[in-house]
Amino acid sequence: MKEKLLVSLQNNLALAQNIAKQLKIKNEIIQLQNFPDEESYIRIEFDVKDKVILLLYALDHPNPKILPLIFIAKALRHLKANKIILITPYLPYMRQDKSFKSGEIISAKFFAELLSSYVDTLITIDPHLHRIKTLADIYTIPTITLHATKYIAEWIKQHISSALLIGPDEESEQWVADVAKMANTPLIICKKIRYGNKEVKLTVPEISDTTKTPIIIDDIVSTGGTLCALANILKENHFPKPICITVHALYDQTAQEAISKAGIETIISCNTIPHVSNQIDITHLILEGIKEIK
Ligand code: R5P
Repeated sequence: MKEKLLVSLQNNLALAQNIAKQLKIKNEIIQLQNFPDEESYIRIEFDVKDKVILLLYALDHPNPKILPLIFIAKALRHLKANKIILITPYLPYMRQDKSFKSGEIISAKFFAELLSSYVDTLITIDPHLHRIKTLADIYTIPTITLHATKYIAEWIKQHISSALLIGPDEESEQWVADVAKMANTPLIICKKIRYGNKEVKLTVPEISDTTKTPIIIDDIVSTGGTLCALANILKENHFPKPICITVHALYDQTAQEAISKAGIETIISCNTIPHVSNQIDITHLILEGIKEIK
């Protein structure tokens, strides 16, 4: 078995150090800075020859991060790394998985082709699989898809005694149902119609028991539009204040304000993207993924 080396950038050091410590391997940092004209300056000061490189690389808000990733992957190859395993806890460009209007490109496919041509294996957590059913449908490299469900269920069991889980849309059912089963809680699934980036309309099935703590579970919080729409309906129906749990706290610049305005006080997230709401640690989940590498 070739020697493994965990490689990361400065911006996800805490997670990188945790993983490296558990694996009892070294964590090396790639220097990435911007030149004044915003071109990337990259420096790799350590030896990668013949090593299996576990490259922990965040790809939330992806565009400025993609070109440096390509340069890093090319450099690692040039320096004769044995393999490049990209660990990106949040996988972007999964939501444009269909051409809804004529001329719209299916960026999920193009992005998959791009990553597949620079790294050898991809490890990620709860990618937004909806019309694309599995990453193998669009990635040509081996992919390892991990699920935070058991960690979320564990958090619920430890913190909430009487919960009602709510999935905001039909596509969430596939995995929110797993959380409900593991946490042994009832579950309802709403219907969602999206009218634009921030405008969504939700309908909640009728529920007579409004005494349980509603826990809204969604894979991504981006604009916060979905959470806010759901929190408003729950309020109209006299539910207690909800707790929101998300895997990926993507948060655009307006999300926090919208969420506060909707009166949502508690949001909990997994640390797939560094954020103040991070409370569910996915280090061990990533370790499970690393064990699966062939
Ligand atoms: C989409 O279908 C996802 O599962 C999320 O519900 C969505 O991405 C959340 O985005 P936003 O916070 O902008 O409503």
